[in-house]
Amino acid sequence: MDEDLRAHTAHRAAMQEKAAADMAAIGIDADFLALMVETFYGRIQADPILGPVFEARLAGRWPEHLERMKMFWQSVALRNGVYSGRPVPAHLKVGGLNEPLFTNWLALFGQTLDDICPTPEARNFLMATAERIAQSLILSIFHNPAVRPPV
Ligand code: HEM
Repeated sequence: MDEDLRAHTAHRAAMQEKAAADMAAIGIDADFLALMVETFYGRIQADPILGPVFEARLAGRWPEHLERMKMFWQSVALRNGVYSGRPVPAHLKVGGLNEPLFTNWLALFGQTLDDICPTPEARNFLMATAERIAQSLILSIFHNPAVRPPV
């Protein structure tokens, strides 16, 4: 049993090391992800359509949100497991959220990546990841009969 646990821990550490090395090779590390989150949510706040939707939910809580999003992106890119949360229930509480807003979100995210990404590979990885997660959120929030979003 101890042996299993040790093997598992070693395997996880090796996976994490590989993810961090793969990401570092294309210019993605924790510092870049922090810059990405700060820049993106700065633009979200200034956006006439998305800004008020976020502000209605996050007024007075922006610093915590940014920290959470930095951990989220580290977990996704660096596989270091620092994020634990439940994105679907969190988004069900966002008043006025609808499917077309995700198009705006992705467009703004893409523009941000164009402006700040250190390499095209970093841009491609982060954009493809965001698109995949957005699609999965859309399915869970708007196309899941078990979920009744507020109208
Ligand atoms: C129009 C689209 C979106 C809107 C308006 C939106 C809005 C929000 C808001 C207001 C919160 C804070 C919830 C709270 O703390 O009460 C939140 C949390 C979060 N969002 Fe989004 N979001 C959108 C799309 C996305 C996408 C595409 C992703 C991923 C690529 C994402 C990832 C997250 C994550 C990980 C959290 C933290 C959930 C938690 O652990 O509490 N969001 N979002």
